[in-house]
Amino acid sequence: MIPKETIQDIFEAARIEEVVGDFVQLKKRGSNLLGLCPFHNEKTPSFTVSSAKGIFKCFGCGKAGNSVNFIMEHEKYSYPEALKYLANKYHIVVEEQEPSPEDKIADTERENLFSIHSFAQKFYTDFMMTTEEGKAIGHTYFLERGFRADIIQKFHLGFAPLAWDSFTKSAITHGYKEELLVTSGLTINKESKLYDRFRERVMFPIHNLTGKVIGFGGRILISDKTKPKYVNSPESEIYNKSKSLYGIFFARGAIVAKDNCLLVEGYTDVISLHQAGIENVVSSSGTSLTTEQIRLISKFTKNITILYDGDPAGIKASFRGIDMILEQGMNVRIVLFPDGEDPDSYARKHRSSDVEAFIATAADDFIAFKTRLLLSETNNDPIKKAGLIHEIIQSISLIADPIIRSLYIKECAGIMSMGEQTLLNELNRLLRKKVLKGHSSDASREREEGVVDQPIFEIEQEPILKADDCSAQELDVIRLLLLYGEKTIDYVHQTSPNKEETTNMTIAQLICNDIRANQVSFDDPVYQEIFEAYAKGVDENDVPDDKLFFQHANQKVSSYAIDIITPRYELSPGWEEFRITVPQEEQRLQEVSLRAVLSLLHRRLTMLITSNQKELKELSDDSEEWADHLSRDIFLKQARNEISKRLGRILNN
Ligand code: GTP
Ligand code: MN
Repeated sequence: MIPKETIQDIFEAARIEEVVGDFVQLKKRGSNLLGLCPFHNEKTPSFTVSSAKGIFKCFGCGKAGNSVNFIMEHEKYSYPEALKYLANKYHIVVEEQEPSPEDKIADTERENLFSIHSFAQKFYTDFMMTTEEGKAIGHTYFLERGFRADIIQKFHLGFAPLAWDSFTKSAITHGYKEELLVTSGLTINKESKLYDRFRERVMFPIHNLTGKVIGFGGRILISDKTKPKYVNSPESEIYNKSKSLYGIFFARGAIVAKDNCLLVEGYTDVISLHQAGIENVVSSSGTSLTTEQIRLISKFTKNITILYDGDPAGIKASFRGIDMILEQGMNVRIVLFPDGEDPDSYARKHRSSDVEAFIATAADDFIAFKTRLLLSETNNDPIKKAGLIHEIIQSISLIADPIIRSLYIKECAGIMSMGEQTLLNELNRLLRKKVLKGHSSDASREREEGVVDQPIFEIEQEPILKADDCSAQELDVIRLLLLYGEKTIDYVHQTSPNKEETTNMTIAQLICNDIRANQVSFDDPVYQEIFEAYAKGVDENDVPDDKLFFQHANQKVSSYAIDIITPRYELSPGWEEFRITVPQEEQRLQEVSLRAVLSLLHRRLTMLITSNQKELKELSDDSEEWADHLSRDIFLKQARNEISKRLGRILNN
């Protein structure tokens, strides 16, 4: 845990132009700095840095954030990692806070598990490289498979001895506790006897994202049908199978550089491709791909190429997994290896450049691949073909980006020699069904983005707003505070029917006072935190600088604040629109702020009225509570009427 004060120090020291400047060449442009965006490919700069606000924003790809976010995104660091990087850059000493006793126990257990895995890796590697048995059996196996010495070393390969308990004995001699050995899964306790899980197997250590060993896969050397070919570590506090990918530590840099991740089946495929100089490769090691693994990859790239050695039946079985990738908004391509070949064998038989060329040319996008494969099975039977359309469109409907969807529709129409419109109709039917079902967050995404064809728009406009939610109104108030809180206006108000008075005040004052007078709090805790800071500023006559929020120690606050003031790329045409609306808004700040506050009050009162009425219905009309609820109903409606009148006056002005 890094103390909050230190985080604040880091934010204050880390000047955005310096932090970004280490990676991007920036040129002055007006009050901002401009450069080529490091997060997407561009030729004309649209990556903007505002020293005054301490934030960056790319108007090409929409990425935005503060110094810490920049480092997290650019270096793929976690929040604490990014903070430590910046602390280091600015010579700030980070004295980590004493963790709580529970944290400590959990931390120690994790630390101990890392320690025993690191010890085990060295044990297996040493055994393979230095003992007669290891050299003759383990090392020879890898060399015969064609693995080079540098690759064997890089992947920390090893060999587990034949004996029952060599590893366990050695670990105990080195002070590791029996209990830890068993928790780690490296040692098995059977009828109070300890023996090694891995025996007489070549060992593939599994590394996490930061290169620590978290588990092992052990491959058998002899052909013995009674034993599994691979034995893997069980899950533990540090090894979660559905979240791990074999090879990710060695591949992460190359995945970012190539903006693509190759996905293969097993350990040896990863290693052989590395040896052939293709390093952007990982494997899910035997298990089928999980959403968490896809998310892990999506930290580094939006493109996955799956290298398959299976037969068509096996591939069809994996369609669902590929749909999962599409659902995550990623692009999937597929390479099918020639009969009997897998990436490992192919890489061994061909020159590196040929392997790379083969992958590049054989890669087919998933939709086209699926279409071709299924089409070849229909034999032009019209009924089967109709079923096929449904299958394909189902996959296309999972893609979030409407432009990519329409491209796929075009492509499929071509492959199947069918009219685009027929496919579009089917797609819209599916999308509509999804929107109506309110299917997860996808529904709102669909509404925001629109879809390729007309009919769906009718449905989109049907408000799917929840009546018990005023987050939109809360957001608008917070947005105005952040954008204009410090601005002063001459507030004009009527003191009597024909007398107007003018008071000079800040927008923060106007908003905070009105909200507090009506005793409204925000449902969203982050909004509430931002609001309170402004309210406090108003009381102390020191309205906070919006910069404070962009660089807030609470990451939720900073990302909200940055999100709020930088319009999201996906939702608006971008900067142009922003520039047009802002001056308009600035000229009418009094009206805009009041309207936002009143809309929030109005909405909140409506919510209260609805819930009060619901309770009212359940009460019997002779109870005291019933009378209370009734008078509350009248009171709330009066209050709402007042608000409506005030709103009306503003709107009619
Ligand atoms: P060869 O190519 O025949 O030399 O074997 P290989 O070591 O490359 O393994 P194979 O191609 O047969 O399997 C590919 C991947 O599937 C392996 O890397 C493992 O992750 C997984 N796998 C294969 N067999 C087993 C098994 O018996 N148990 C488990 N858990 N996984 C296995
Ligand atoms: Mn293989």
